[in-house]
Amino acid sequence: MSRKNQTLGEFIIENQSSFKYTSGELSRLINSIRLAAKVVSHEVNKAGLVDIIGAAGDVNIQGEDQQKLDVYANDKFIQTLKNRNIVCGIASEEEDDFITINSQDENNQNKYVVLIDPLDGSSNIDVNVSVGTIFSIYRRVTPIGTPVTIDDFLQEGNQQVAAGYVVYGTSTMLVYTTGAGVNGFTLNPAIGTFYLSHPTMEFPENGNIYSVNEGNYIHFPQGVKDYIKYCQMEEDNRPYTARYIGSLVSDFHRNMIKGGIYMYPKSSKATNGKLRLLYECNPMAFIAEQANGKASDGVTRILDIKPTELHERVPFFCGSKTMMNTLEDFIQKGK
Ligand code: AHG
Ligand code: MN
Ligand code: MN
Ligand code: MN
Repeated sequence: MSRKNQTLGEFIIENQSSFKYTSGELSRLINSIRLAAKVVSHEVNKAGLVDIIGAAGDVNIQGEDQQKLDVYANDKFIQTLKNRNIVCGIASEEEDDFITINSQDENNQNKYVVLIDPLDGSSNIDVNVSVGTIFSIYRRVTPIGTPVTIDDFLQEGNQQVAAGYVVYGTSTMLVYTTGAGVNGFTLNPAIGTFYLSHPTMEFPENGNIYSVNEGNYIHFPQGVKDYIKYCQMEEDNRPYTARYIGSLVSDFHRNMIKGGIYMYPKSSKATNGKLRLLYECNPMAFIAEQANGKASDGVTRILDIKPTELHERVPFFCGSKTMMNTLEDFIQKGK
């Protein structure tokens, strides 16, 4: 049940019964993410004024230079979830290993783990272009009351109970799913409240936007090269429009609203592409499918890939169904 001008807080309570597992715990968890998102949004908005732009000086496990906002957002989300004693474990793009929460406390009954890309689109921070946060929530598979293990994090994406993203754009939006469709909420910064602004979001069946870092074209597999040429051909409703922000969250958000396809293929330089299965591809794939879209590595459904390590990367294609089907045909033929 949803109605315009409903606050996110109201929406979470009123839709609790649609959760696969009904307990207040998942609601409290999403409420904590909502709170951390507001704090990070506030900081992102004044990035040019306070000493928060630029490199932090460290390199993360991904081999990327950490930006100050990467570190800030990572700390804020982890702190918020830890302080509220609401999850039993967290894994983050910015942490080498997963974090165990309250392993000493035998009464710890928390059932959920969170996987997070705290700041998506780091390269856009210094130039005042939209960035985001991506989160993914699973029920633990190991016994309640024991410390979490790697098995709790290496679950197939089809086991997610909730996933979402925050886009810090011209306005800040929180978009999420608990497996019963996708809803988007816009932050009114004056009063710090998210309101339901985009109920039941869906990818149009077809679209005319393609999003890919075409600078890497020469390194792409033949099938992807052929599809890009197809996008540029003058026929039917083509050529398509090329739009690439360089923040997965923002590119996805636009394509979901307008209709389009996002591509981060493998290349001769990056044999598994760049995007992380657990922090980026799985949550976005869950949202895409819940919004009538499709997500695959070109052949296999993203949500059916069995992860083997925390920071694993996979080729990622996602968007409107008709465009995805055509792309997959090209990949099958071109290899
Ligand atoms: P992050 O900032 O979390 O490391 O993610 C960056 C990702 C993703 O947001 C974006 O779509 C992609 O990297 C851009 O990569 P290229 O600069 O190689 O196109
Ligand atoms: Mn990064
Ligand atoms: Mn990212
Ligand atoms: Mn990131």
